[in-house]
Amino acid sequence: MTTLYLIGNWKQHGSRASIAAFASQWSFEGHERLAVAIAPPFPYIGELGAALPNCLLAAQDCSIHEQGAHTGEVSVGMLADVGCRFVLVGHSERRVHHGETDELIGRKLAAVQAAGLTPVLCVGEDSATREAGDQNHAVRAQLGGALPAIASQLLIAYEPVWAIGTGLTATPDQVDDMHAVIKAEVNALLGGDSEIPVLYGGSVIPETAEALFGCPHVDGALVGGASLDPDSFAAIARSARNSLSD
Ligand code: PGA
Repeated sequence: MTTLYLIGNWKQHGSRASIAAFASQWSFEGHERLAVAIAPPFPYIGELGAALPNCLLAAQDCSIHEQGAHTGEVSVGMLADVGCRFVLVGHSERRVHHGETDELIGRKLAAVQAAGLTPVLCVGEDSATREAGDQNHAVRAQLGGALPAIASQLLIAYEPVWAIGTGLTATPDQVDDMHAVIKAEVNALLGGDSEIPVLYGGSVIPETAEALFGCPHVDGALVGGASLDPDSFAAIARSARNSLSD
């Protein structure tokens, strides 16, 4: 039975006051096959967990190191300790602005799995690659460069760079085609029929959510901007829930 995943990525947004305001407005009825999580900035993970008990916790990044003299780094052990279930790895903003390579991303992914948490591996092509029609090749290369040996405990988020924070959502057909490519490639790389869930991310809003959740190869969404507003995020969660009861 399919489980859908909805993860809000707050990026570098939030404060104690905004978390309190979010929690006072957040209204959502859960479903046993819908996992809803939010990835706030590191300092707010504990506070968010206390304020939103019906939401799971996610982190936006992690260190490859367990502990030690690594100023500014946060280990996966620490993330597990404060209650995180998911950790984003290889978000395009980390790849582009922080020089993260597939090799580093692969090591982060392995560290997250070793700590018993679920990594969310983010992949996606930029606009020049899409215009050149090279997107399948680019995404396959990202998967091949970073995938761990273990298929279990893994989510993948397809986030075309040109759709992130731009208001340009990929069409349901573009999304579904790429998700099918990703699933086939993961099975080719890891062997077997692993059925890794693939989430879509890139300007998801309540108005586009229903069509996305209706796509056969879409197993959830990674939502940036719209996850900062409790009403928008709850509306997206309701679309996900409704698609499960169809
Ligand atoms: P967006 O961000 O929904 O604001 O486009 C998605 C993401 O970067 O994860």
